[in-house]
Amino acid sequence: MSKRIALLCSGGDAPGMNAAVRAVVRTAIGRGWEVLGIERGYKGLIEQAFCMLTLRSVSGIIHRGGTVLKTSRSRRFRTPEGLEVAAETLRSRGIDALIAIGGNGTARGAIELGRIWPGQILLLPGTIDNDLNGTDYTIGYDTAVNVALEAIDRLRDTAESLERTFVVEVMGRDSGFNALDVALAAGAELVLVPEAPMPLQQAYEAIRTAHERGKTSCIVVVAEGHPLGDGRAVAEYFAQQDGPENYRLCVLGHIQRGGPPTARDRLLATRLGGYAVEALAEGATGMLVGEIHGRCQLTPLHEAVQVKKSPQIELLQLLAATAL
Ligand code: F6P
Repeated sequence: MSKRIALLCSGGDAPGMNAAVRAVVRTAIGRGWEVLGIERGYKGLIEQAFCMLTLRSVSGIIHRGGTVLKTSRSRRFRTPEGLEVAAETLRSRGIDALIAIGGNGTARGAIELGRIWPGQILLLPGTIDNDLNGTDYTIGYDTAVNVALEAIDRLRDTAESLERTFVVEVMGRDSGFNALDVALAAGAELVLVPEAPMPLQQAYEAIRTAHERGKTSCIVVVAEGHPLGDGRAVAEYFAQQDGPENYRLCVLGHIQRGGPPTARDRLLATRLGGYAVEALAEGATGMLVGEIHGRCQLTPLHEAVQVKKSPQIELLQLLAATAL
């Protein structure tokens, strides 16, 4: 049966979103469906910012970061009035299904919309935070980790040459996935994550012990959401203990979100995009489309967001053991 589907990206952009858009558009059109793009996420849905997506309009985007559909965080969509306008727009345009690409906030928006709009809704997990259940990895996470890793490899050169400690703050909102994986891959001496907050005194002791063991430079990775102090607070605390010349801060920020997606992110996005279209054909709705142990799977949206997904905290011990 032919369908008219709509596609949007919402929240923070993530590398690989374009690959997902391309996969959805091409596989849906391949089935004879019509695909409408919605620009600027839920905001654009309220404002009726539709565009027709064709086979050619998604040419040359698989390697580009960001999202060609543009994205936003809409306050109005979170109000009953905004939600109702969005649902009415979908009704009036005769849309059968909506695929939203985004993270936690996008998932919650999709759940709310699903309560008042009877069409099919699926979520493709697109966020560098990796904080959604129902998928081992989110689209954009691998790129963000690799960008941060490359940055830290570069910082090491300076850290070693000047015998300094670099405090590197990475993104992830209130989640420690980015920080933990980057720290392990970079061989950092210490990592501070929201899931296992560490008092700054204890962090400083750990770095002092590393120096006593003969290390002349250290890398400390701090998740931006570390509740006992972000990167700046950690660097300032260390500097107060034994002099500002020994410590430098590098906040990676949005640099982590930009640039071409890795092969892994393009593959994940392409697989999930294609699978989402198949799932719509089979009538699925209210689901997150994820990949678990290498297989595409559907998970109810409320399960994807109701419990906070946490990284494996045991890996902190591995980091400490390998940073000796
Ligand atoms: O959710 C993705 C993310 O990059 C978080 O890691 C970060 O905390 C947040 O978005 C930053 O949001 P904004 O782009 O609105 O500054």
